[in-house]
Amino acid sequence: MRALVLLCVIAGLLGSSLSNRNCPDLIVDSCHCSAERSKQLSRQHVRVRVVCDDVELMDTLQPSFLPNRTVSLNLSNNKISLLRNGSFYGLAVLEKLDLKNNLISTVEPGAFRGLHALRRLDLSNNRIGCVLPEMFLDLGSVSKLNLSGNIFSTLTVGIFTHLVALKVLHFSTETLFCDCQLKWLLLWARGNSLRIGNDTVCVFPTHLHGLEFHNLREHQLRCDGPLEMPLFQLIPSQRQVVFRGDRLPLQCTASYLDPSVELRWRHNRRMVTTHEDRGVYVEDTLIHDCCLITSEVILSNIELGLGGIWECLVTSSRGNTSLQMEIVVLETSAPYCPTDRVTNNKGDFRWPKTLAGILTFLPCAPATFGSAPHPSGSIAHPSSQKGKKAWRSCDRNGRWGEEDYTQCPYASELTRVLHELTQITVNTTNAQPLGQQLVAFTSRAAHFTDVMDVIFVTHLVERLTRLVGKRKDLGDYISDIASNMMLVEEHVLWMAQNEARACTRIVQCVERIADLSLTGDNQVISKVSANIALEAFLIRPSNFLGLSCMALQRPPSSATSPLPDGHSNFDKEKIKDGDAEGESLLNFKCHTVNNSGSPASQLSKLGETNRPVMQQ
Ligand SMILES: *[C@@H]1O[C@H](CO)[C@@H](O)[C@H](O)[C@H]1NC(C)=O
Ligand SMILES: *[C@@H]1O[C@H](CO)[C@@H](O)[C@H](O)[C@H]1NC(C)=O
Ligand SMILES: *[C@@H]1O[C@H](CO)[C@@H](O)[C@H](O)[C@H]1NC(C)=O
Ligand SMILES: *[C@@H]1O[C@H](CO)[C@@H](O)[C@H](O)[C@H]1NC(C)=O
Ligand SMILES: *[C@@H]1O[C@H](CO)[C@@H](O)[C@H](O)[C@H]1NC(C)=O
Ligand SMILES: *[C@@H]1O[C@H](CO)[C@@H](O)[C@H](O)[C@H]1NC(C)=O
Ligand SMILES: *[C@@H]1O[C@H](CO)[C@@H](O)[C@H](O)[C@H]1NC(C)=O
Ligand SMILES: *[C@@H]1O[C@H](CO)[C@@H](O)[C@H](O)[C@H]1NC(C)=O
Repeated sequence: MRALVLLCVIAGLLGSSLSNRNCPDLIVDSCHCSAERSKQLSRQHVRVRVVCDDVELMDTLQPSFLPNRTVSLNLSNNKISLLRNGSFYGLAVLEKLDLKNNLISTVEPGAFRGLHALRRLDLSNNRIGCVLPEMFLDLGSVSKLNLSGNIFSTLTVGIFTHLVALKVLHFSTETLFCDCQLKWLLLWARGNSLRIGNDTVCVFPTHLHGLEFHNLREHQLRCDGPLEMPLFQLIPSQRQVVFRGDRLPLQCTASYLDPSVELRWRHNRRMVTTHEDRGVYVEDTLIHDCCLITSEVILSNIELGLGGIWECLVTSSRGNTSLQMEIVVLETSAPYCPTDRVTNNKGDFRWPKTLAGILTFLPCAPATFGSAPHPSGSIAHPSSQKGKKAWRSCDRNGRWGEEDYTQCPYASELTRVLHELTQITVNTTNAQPLGQQLVAFTSRAAHFTDVMDVIFVTHLVERLTRLVGKRKDLGDYISDIASNMMLVEEHVLWMAQNEARACTRIVQCVERIADLSLTGDNQVISKVSANIALEAFLIRPSNFLGLSCMALQRPPSSATSPLPDGHSNFDKEKIKDGDAEGESLLNFKCHTVNNSGSPASQLSKLGETNRPVMQQ
């Protein structure tokens, strides 16, 4: 054990002394130098490798501090941002240079001057946008070059003229644009037997996305497609609410795809130019790193007139595109809309004090389980109400204006469930359970408080009615539901009638049951619910003559209509279902029947006898 520790210490000492001996002038402690001698054992053939990996270097090492026999220099994973002219001058035998994963954005012409022996250069994962031929001066021996992970989207003609020995090239970037501007490289690679790495894939245009560049055909590299921008942004992108007199710069950045790309500004659809009197300054357009174009407009002293839509417009030979944002300018003494509380069928909303001219949002109120009964077999209401909002606008004068609660769910669970049911497509399979469910829900109709409950039931009854022809049993449900609905409080019915003619529509549905269920083999129908009785006969005019009579049983005198005899009353001729053996009176109604009319008109006349009547 002790021997092992000792050995390690010795090895450590040996290592550091070796390092010192190989790189006597190197001041950066964290660099590691290793040397190996070739067979000749002559001083000339010592090969030194220097690794300064991940040591927070901000700059390249002074070449004079490195052994002039350095064959490999690894500066990867540092924070180098600039390569100056002659950064490695003097390293005449350097063969490998690894600069990957730095922050290099500028490579000065002549940066690699003197590296005549260099064979591999890795510049990947940096921020190089401009790739110029002078960058590669003296690199006549380089056979492998990795430019992947930089920010350029194209490479211009002739940039590799100094790289006469280049055999393998990688240049995949997140914005690589495979268009006519790269056609030369395809041809040049073929002509110079240059291999382009199969990891170099197109990102733009969309129709070439993911294709390996080396597999492309010349005719696929075109510039006439629709305009696509790898990057296009306007800052700020969201609406800005500012006070009169404020300062606000707007900055627009777009990909500089080719020299035809220009940026312009529009305000409320009019071109913007510098207007010192109004405090509007349009700055010169700048091109950054050969691949981005930016423009800035500074609003230094915002007047009311500068409010509205601001737009950054890209024009190019490939087409135009634009981005917009809105500026709302407030008077410094802008009024406020007061706090306000709104309670409606979507819940309870407390609107905060809000500046004039602002649209304000509130999250939908958490579902409250109000007065509505818990419906049997209720559908789980969606828990995904997150992010749903109501909005209300405060106008310029500080008065509450337009508002919208449509995104919010109904506060009452019954209303919510009915609303969800209206979203379901009713077919012959689900109609029967739906009818049952509605009969159950409406059995508590006396507690309905929301107009929407009545309106939703009306919708559903209409949908069920459409299927009565296919499923006779639906008629019973509809008649029961209609009967139940007569128990809804009068003012609620009245509002539903006003808003959606709900009562009229329910009555029409009940009437239609007869039309739909009387067929050849079904000549008589009779439906009796608590508050509605419906009798219908199929009568053939040819074999019918005389009187049609009907016996109506009056309920005991105390049982009057559940609704006062007002505007929305049902007909007095209601048949109470129940015990016929009592002492109640039988009431006959007879009509002469006109043979000459159509069967349908006769039917409707008969139907009228017992039709519940609701005013419209
Ligand atoms: C390397 O430096 C040594 C002295 O430090 C010098 O003798 C030698 O000539 C240099 N070699 C080259 C190739 O510059
Ligand atoms: C440089 O160092 C990094 C990290 O240790 C390593 O991944 C890379 O292969 C090295 N480069 C060369 C050329 O050896
Ligand atoms: C780089 O520096 C050398 C020496 O100072 C100079 O001769 C050369 O012109 C420079 N190259 C460029 C491209 O600036
Ligand atoms: C080139 O660089 C990219 C990014 O660092 C890397 O994924 C790729 O493997 C490199 N290619 C070669 C051949 O070194
Ligand atoms: C890409 O090339 C490498 C080596 O050059 C090879 O191993 C790999 O299978 C190739 N990948 C594809 C998808 O062709
Ligand atoms: C693009 O904008 C320029 C300048 O406003 C205009 O002349 C040109 O017609 C526009 N092109 C398209 C395709 O809209
Ligand atoms: C009725 O609709 C349900 C879904 O809403 C569906 O599963 C069923 O197959 C439909 N039945 C018919 C007969 O269309
Ligand atoms: C019978 O119906 C026809 C056509 O609808 C009408 O012209 C005629 O006056 C009716 N007769 C009676 C007695 O109501």
